[in-house]
Amino acid sequence: MNDLDLLALLLFILPAYVANASPVLFGGGAPVDLKGKFCDRKRVFGDGKTWRGLIAGIACGSLVGVAETFFFSNNVFMLQGFLLSTGALAGDLLGSFIKRRSGIKRGQPSFLLDQLMFLFIALLFAAPVLASENAPFKLTPTGLLVLVVLTYFLHVSTNYFANKAGLKKVPW
Ligand code: CTP
Ligand code: MG
Repeated sequence: MNDLDLLALLLFILPAYVANASPVLFGGGAPVDLKGKFCDRKRVFGDGKTWRGLIAGIACGSLVGVAETFFFSNNVFMLQGFLLSTGALAGDLLGSFIKRRSGIKRGQPSFLLDQLMFLFIALLFAAPVLASENAPFKLTPTGLLVLVVLTYFLHVSTNYFANKAGLKKVPW
């Protein structure tokens, strides 16, 4: 993979990264599950998933897509950014849903789920654009592998620094 491929890959995934990170800054208030419990009597998502975080994440990530659309003069980036952002937040919710079903408390770490679920669901949501004929970006198997490894380490390191900066209570 050359430098240009890596730059294209980063620009492609940026809306998902921004969508995943912004709830830490803008989240809070009413939880998405409104404190509701699932049939196992545990919380559906828990207090770590809030409406404000959800909306801020989708909005900030989508804005990156809008900026890319202007930068590249291609409307597809707007749709791609929206799909990646919505998918990232849906994946984050799914991760918390699985954590709660497995008895992992809100804020407790879960290896791989915490770092990669948002990426996989973001890619799934963006699949119709990725597969379309006029897709500005094509994800290759190598690209996917690089994304998985990069996302894992970026997630671990940004959470470490977010904790040091006082933005997050825990370093994961
Ligand atoms: N956050 C939010 N709304 C979201 C996602 C995240 O408000 N939809 C905020 C919460 O303040 C949350 C923080 O971002 O505590 C970090 O997110 P994350 O690590 O995903 O949540 P956890 O608190 O660890 O909860 P969980 O165990 O469910 O992952
Ligand atoms: Mg967490």
